[in-house]
Amino acid sequence: MHALITGAAGFIGSHLALKLRAECVAVRCVDSFTDYYDPALKRSRAAALANAGCTVIEADLTSTDLDALLDNVDVVFHLAGQPGVRASWGSEFSNYTRNNVEATQRLLEAARRMHKLKRFIYASSSSIYGNANHYPTSEDVSPQPISPYGVTKLAAEHLCTLYAINYKVPTVSLRYFTVYGPGQRPDMAFSQFLRAALNSEEITIYGLGQQIRDFTYIDDVVSATTLAATCDLSPGVVLNVAGGSHSSVNRVLELIEELAGVTLIANRAAAVAGDANRTGGDTSEIRSLLGWRPRVSLSEGLARQLAWTREN
Ligand code: NAD
Ligand code: UGA
Repeated sequence: MHALITGAAGFIGSHLALKLRAECVAVRCVDSFTDYYDPALKRSRAAALANAGCTVIEADLTSTDLDALLDNVDVVFHLAGQPGVRASWGSEFSNYTRNNVEATQRLLEAARRMHKLKRFIYASSSSIYGNANHYPTSEDVSPQPISPYGVTKLAAEHLCTLYAINYKVPTVSLRYFTVYGPGQRPDMAFSQFLRAALNSEEITIYGLGQQIRDFTYIDDVVSATTLAATCDLSPGVVLNVAGGSHSSVNRVLELIEELAGVTLIANRAAAVAGDANRTGGDTSEIRSLLGWRPRVSLSEGLARQLAWTREN
């Protein structure tokens, strides 16, 4: 396999690239090192990828020559994007439309010209569901995003499906549910809470902490993503990748206190617009099509992220 990973200097992309390299896949990595969080962290991940034998290219998908980038590639893993639910309001929105919608559309246009492309995997998001009517939520539930971020992730997902229908681009959209583990993005909840637990700093809880997330461990996300590259799937398919943890933020705080042996200092703030009350993915479809199921429990995954945070 010749793989292209977009957003490879990011949290999920860097784990995926290292896993594929360990399996001797030829991996081309592209990232523009956006400043949503410290670009130095992304550059250090990129250096580790280069050390592992990946080809690393600094380029922006909204402007670079994509035909050259896709040359000789069998599988595209499209993880580049502007993440973050709560930051997607106001003037920041243009970053979301550019990096999530325009970048995906440009990449799909180039992909439709690549006749040897076997798979185009898009990193979609549980945020496309908003506050769903059914839990666990299956892929056929009508998406109702409640954040601008979710709208852009859904728009890009629709683009993947329509390029599959119109041009037979072999797309697969994977709806990842709140991913965590070593190297998690520094703006995300577990990163914030674990760092604060170890440094006796304050944390901020948005709302009552009763919001529920189907937290998904990074290794499970990587294994679903690699299976989606190689298993037989119809173009345009959409699949949930959900960890099965269904835990409230308050429960996460209890677990961290038990694991770290500390009492967290919590500052309660108002709920943030765009934050869903609950996410929970039905994984029947991905079990049946890919034989995938999550393997790492929340307490095990949190313990691993805590150990990594201590070391780093
Ligand atoms: P991340 O920010 O760590 O990684 C994304 C990378 O994409 C960054 O390194 C960034 O510099 C790069 N990038 C952004 N715009 C680019 C552009 N125009 N050209 C080239 N590179 C660009 O985020 P992550 O948490 O690793 O998420 C990866 C993907 O998965 C994103 O698309 C995100 O929307 C999606 N996702 C993440 C989660 C999660 O819980 N982390 C859940 C659902 C979906
Ligand atoms: C995460 C990612 O950040 C998105 O990029 C991704 O698309 C999304 O998952 C998804 O599943 O689709 P989120 O669920 O908000 O979004 O993940 P966290 O940032 O880890 O937040 C989890 C919960 O903790 C949220 O309810 C949030 O309000 C809460 N939180 C977060 C706090 O109470 N305090 C914090 O400091 C951070």
